[in-house]
Parts: sequence; structure tokens; C-alpha cells
Amino acid sequence: MFKVTTLDAEFELLPDESLLAGLERTNHAVEYQCRSGYCGSCRVKLLAGRVSYREMPMAFIAEGEVLACCCVLESDVAVACCLRADEADGKGGE
Ligand code: FES
Repeated sequence: MFKVTTLDAEFELLPDESLLAGLERTNHAVEYQCRSGYCGSCRVKLLAGRVSYREMPMAFIAEGEVLACCCVLESDVAVACCLRADEADGKGGE
């Protein structure tokens, strides 16, 4: 499985897990609405690595950004995403 490095953590995507789902599972601060490439809410900056799309998404993506809900990792990646504030300051679960 491919490794995802964020600004705060590292984890491996599970089989068939989207980048968005992996970021949610590991308590990262990610936004989403449609989860299917239409709204662009889940855009994150790709710092390293390669992704592709099964179908070209409808949402606008700027140079260097990816849609976490529908991109398919082609390599280990690094993305500009942080842990949720309650996790990053050690207060998670309180
Ligand atoms: S959540 Fe809408 S494009 Fe990803």
C-alpha cells in the first residue's frame, strides 16, 4: 500500500481506501461535501508523489492540487494537510 505523509503524520492507505477516507481515519482536518469529484471541497496540495483519476473530476483543481475524494494514488504521496486541532494539541478524545 502507498504511504501518505502529511504535515503532521504518516500513514498507509488501506486497500480500496480513498485519500479522503484515509485522512479522515487518521484524524486530519479535511473538508468534503460530495465525495465524488464535483464540489472541490476536498482539494489538498500535493507536495510529492503522483495521483490519477478513474474519470476526470468536474471540480476545478489548481496546479499542484488533488481531489482527495476521488484521486487514485500512483505512488507514495505527501500532502499539505494537518491533524485536526483537537488532535494536534494532544486533547483528542477529551
Ligand atoms: S468532496 Fe467534492 S470534490 Fe471531493
